[in-house]
Amino acid sequence: MISTIDMTREQIESLLESALRFKSGDDVSKPLAGKSVALVFFNPSLRTRASMQVGIYELGGNAVVLEPGGTSWTLEHREGAVMDSDKTEHVAEFVRVLERYCVAIGVRTFAALKDWQEERTDPVLNAFAKYATVPIINLESATHHPCQSLADMLTIREKLGAGRKRVVLTWAWHPKPLPMAVPNSFALAAAQMGHDLVIAHPSGYELDEELIETLGANVEITNDIDTAFEGADVIYAKSWGSKQFYGNTDQDVATRAQYRSKWIVDEEKMSRTNDAIFMHCLPVRRNVIVTDGVIDSPASVVIDEAENRLHVQKAILARLLGG
Ligand code: CP
Repeated sequence: MISTIDMTREQIESLLESALRFKSGDDVSKPLAGKSVALVFFNPSLRTRASMQVGIYELGGNAVVLEPGGTSWTLEHREGAVMDSDKTEHVAEFVRVLERYCVAIGVRTFAALKDWQEERTDPVLNAFAKYATVPIINLESATHHPCQSLADMLTIREKLGAGRKRVVLTWAWHPKPLPMAVPNSFALAAAQMGHDLVIAHPSGYELDEELIETLGANVEITNDIDTAFEGADVIYAKSWGSKQFYGNTDQDVATRAQYRSKWIVDEEKMSRTNDAIFMHCLPVRRNVIVTDGVIDSPASVVIDEAENRLHVQKAILARLLGG
C-alpha cells in the first residue's frame, strides 16, 4: 500500500464502503486476531500513530511501534552503504527480522527536502518494500500519504454525497517548506474519484510533473487563489515546499514571504465558494494556513476527517491481511 496509483475507482469505492461498515458498527470482525503489525515512525505523528494503534486493536491485533534512532536502532537504507558512520542497522536486516514477528509493516518517513530528484523516488519507503515479503503500508512517505487521501475521499463522500464535486486543493503560506506527500495523494485520489479538481498555488510551487500527468484531463491548475475558490464545494488547504528550493530552505522561506497575507483560507474567500466544506489533514497552524473563523465554523470538517483515518485504515488492514 504505497499509494493509490494502482487502484481502480471501483477498488477505492469498495474500500470506502468497507470503512463505512466499520464506522457504523455493521462490521465488527477481528481479522487481525492473534496477529501483530509493526508501525515504524521516523517522524512525529498524532493521528496516524493513534489511529493505526487503535484500529489494529479493534481488529483484534497487536501494534508494535518502533522509532528508529529512538526506541530502535538508527537505520541505513542505502544499498551497498559502508556503515562506518552513525547508522547501526540496515533496513535489510530490520525488515527481515521484523517480518518474522509481524504480518505487515507500516512506515512513516518524511522527505528531508534536501534533494528533489532523489526524494521524489521515495528511497526509504522503497527500501522497506524491496526487502519485505509482508505488506508495506505507507503511513506518509516523501511522496504519498494514501491513508490520508482515502480518509479525505470518505469525508467528501459523507458530507457531500457520491456525485462529482468541484474540489479545490489550495497551497497556503507556512513559515517553512513542507513535504508534498499530502497534496500529491489528495490530488491523485480526487482525480481517481472523478471530481473536478482545481490545484491553486503560486508560480514556482508546482507539484511533481509526472504526478500531474497521471491526473488526466479533469484538472485545472491556477496561480489565482481568488478565482479558484469561486463555486468550490471543497476547499482543501495544504502548504508545501518548492521543488526548485529543495536543499535551500532559506531561499524558499524568502520567496514565499510575499504570499503570507494572500495565501490563507479566510472567511472572505470561503464566502465565494458554493458553501464549501473546509478540509485539512492536520496538524494545522491556526491563523497561518486558515483563520480561526473558518476552522471553527460549521464548514470545517477537519475533526471528522481525522476520525475517518481510523475507519479507512481498518478497511485497508482488513483488505490486506484479512484473507
Ligand atoms: N494527518 C496526519 O498524518 O497527522 P499526523 O502527522 O499527526 O499523523
